Amino acid sequence: MERVLTNLRLVTLSSETSADNNGYQIIEDGMVGITNGKIMFVGSASDSPLACHNDLHGHPDVIDCGNALVTPGLIDCHTHLVFAGNRANEFEQRLTGMPYEEIAKRGGGIISTVQATREATEDELYQLAIKRLNGLKRDGVTTIEIKSGYGLTLDDELKMLRVARRIGDMPDIKVSTTLLAAHAVPPEYKNRADDYIEYVCQHIIPAAVEQGLADYVDVFCEGIGFSTQQCQRVFETAKHYGLGIKGHTEQLSNLGGSALAARMGATSVDHIEYLDLDGVAALAANNTVATLLPGAYYFLRETQRPPIEHLRKLQVPMAISTDFNPGTSPIASLRTMMNMACTFFRLTPEECLRGVTCNAAQALGLEASRGKINVGMEADLALWDIDTPAELSYRLGVPDLIARIVDGEIFYA
Ligand code: NIG
Ligand code: FE
Repeated sequence: MERVLTNLRLVTLSSETSADNNGYQIIEDGMVGITNGKIMFVGSASDSPLACHNDLHGHPDVIDCGNALVTPGLIDCHTHLVFAGNRANEFEQRLTGMPYEEIAKRGGGIISTVQATREATEDELYQLAIKRLNGLKRDGVTTIEIKSGYGLTLDDELKMLRVARRIGDMPDIKVSTTLLAAHAVPPEYKNRADDYIEYVCQHIIPAAVEQGLADYVDVFCEGIGFSTQQCQRVFETAKHYGLGIKGHTEQLSNLGGSALAARMGATSVDHIEYLDLDGVAALAANNTVATLLPGAYYFLRETQRPPIEHLRKLQVPMAISTDFNPGTSPIASLRTMMNMACTFFRLTPEECLRGVTCNAAQALGLEASRGKINVGMEADLALWDIDTPAELSYRLGVPDLIARIVDGEIFYA
């Protein structure tokens, strides 16, 4: 083993969640052995093949972690991290009473960010995104999903995805990219949404595939976005090209987009405040993750809560994400989202921790390699100066993170 971490309290999340909210099964005096960026051993020191002092003595890289609590590295599975400008003016407008949908209809909202993003260079977008990313890293994030969707032309969508890929070249963060060309109808296609969808399907998706820039394709299925028929067309095209699919669905109304996406094989459907029972059943039947975005719920002062009880009852995995974006969730803190999921949606801190680790990994199709501390998985970990895992959801703003470990490399906070 190249690296051995000792003196850990391990929250592996290997076991399934338990009904009594005590499913953490913390391993005291734990050790993790790492080779080639992968976890080769995880367990208590007494069970370790390297436990005896002689074996550890003189080992090239033994790190005493001082009884830190260790979780899988956190995964933010839904962000719009790459964009230019901001929408503080719109925030002010909303405080005078104008609703989000009204602002969008008047050409503000997503379209105003589209204009700023089109004008920005790749380097400018990269620098802006890095600053936001630094906020997420402070909360122990080691994997992030980044969507396009503020370009809405072939060149500008690909520009955004190239920036996302470039962020993924950093050694301390892993990036999954999502093409969200069907985010809004661009001004050039005003009142011609079907034509725009054809442009997306015939030009943007194939180009993104050819250049290897997209892992997933996403849509905004909503009255101010696209219809279920239009979304279906996008999903069919994405699948034709071998890409995964996911959806912004049931955020402001119930159009049936979640059930459609689930039936077509989506790994996740996101927002879902207006999801009905049939929709929940469709998620359960297709093993689709329900991604909760409490930041957008909070920022838009929504009152319709996602159907948490039904999701629980049918054992639909729930993920939690920042949805970081300029219009509905300018909040670069995944722990704040965990806290909001508890306070607004009444999730337990254990559900929140699974929501930003193993269930978030599943939302990105990465559950076999990330999101738990298991032998054979990638050595992506977060080391915390806390006593209990519940503190991750409980406390805000205190820098509890000691370090993040990505593919076995240590990055101190
Ligand atoms: O996830 N719902 C659509 N898209 C974003 C908001 C984008 C924006 O307002 O800029 C969301 O909330
Ligand atoms: Fe979003």
